[in-house]
Amino acid sequence: MSKKIFSGVQPTGNLHLGNYLGAIKNFVSLNNNKENKCIFCVVDLHAITVKQDPDELKKNIRETVATFIASGIDPKKSIIFKQSRVAAHAEAAWILGCVARMGWLNRMTQFKEKAGKDKEKASIGLYSYPVLMAADILLYDATHVPVGDDQKQHLELCRDIAQKFNNDFEVENFLQVPEPLIQKEFSRIMSLKDGSKKMSKSELSDLSRINLTDTKDEIINKIKKAKTDTLSMPKNLNEIEERLEVKNLLGIYASLSDTTLEKSIENFAGKNFSEFKEKLSQILINKIVPISSEIKKLLSDQKYLDQILLDGVEKADLIASKKIERIKEIVGF
Ligand code: TYM
Repeated sequence: MSKKIFSGVQPTGNLHLGNYLGAIKNFVSLNNNKENKCIFCVVDLHAITVKQDPDELKKNIRETVATFIASGIDPKKSIIFKQSRVAAHAEAAWILGCVARMGWLNRMTQFKEKAGKDKEKASIGLYSYPVLMAADILLYDATHVPVGDDQKQHLELCRDIAQKFNNDFEVENFLQVPEPLIQKEFSRIMSLKDGSKKMSKSELSDLSRINLTDTKDEIINKIKKAKTDTLSMPKNLNEIEERLEVKNLLGIYASLSDTTLEKSIENFAGKNFSEFKEKLSQILINKIVPISSEIKKLLSDQKYLDQILLDGVEKADLIASKKIERIKEIVGF
């Protein structure tokens, strides 16, 4: 069945292995299937929900496009565009914000994590961020949304908003209720320093993540310093339940070699960590270094990257402006 795919990535720098294994890798395989129509959005409106340096933001937008392409997304087979250039996103977010309920947003765990202890100081944008995400998806009638596990709750909210809009305005099936595409395994890659925390670009220590722009030496060093424990390599799934860091590293190994966690445990059972870490570094280098070099190459051709965004925005705007016009009519504007 042909799918309409929509997903977004924030241009906040330091795209990492979590973004790749949790989301971008999946974008590539969906994009390779000719039946699918894919739209990938650089969500700069989402990025400014926390303070951004304007020059850095510009640079990170290009870097995100470069990362998409370097990872294997073909810009000829998909629409790649910048969210802020399609006015319908902000307009739809306002209208859907009048449909969404405070109680729903109050349950969002990511806001609680990101706002931290001092919620009073968080931006309003950070709070209503999942509504903008719903607008992104619903404007394009997306049927499937590939994301990492941390976005699951936001997608459930998006489904609730779509259903409530359709009910409130008695327009059955007008807003397409999308299905999340979250991989069963490895959809949450954890920090290399703390297996209970997700790998994230906002984590202070660079040693906690593998960036998609890392060099061979950086990868070797980070894996060498990645936290493990004093026990020997596990022999079965039961043995890793409590050993979060070890489970994460074996998960990364399995995901990169397209095998299961069980198989990768079997591979290394009883061996010592240094041997496993060497193999893990090698497989990471094989995957990440070509992406990293391609990103650098693409970044030296800014015109090419800007042209991709220009072509993309034209196509995206055509779809989104039609949908927002219908939304406005339905609402009674
Ligand atoms: P963002 O920019 O934080 O992350 C981009 C994608 O990477 C996934 N991801 C991870 N997956 C596994 N393990 C990790 N440690 C990890 N860290 C990040 C995220 O789940 C995501 O898929 N709100 C979204 C962007 C967005 C969006 C949308 C997504 C805006 N509009 C519409 C889908 C549809 C976000 O902040 O992702």
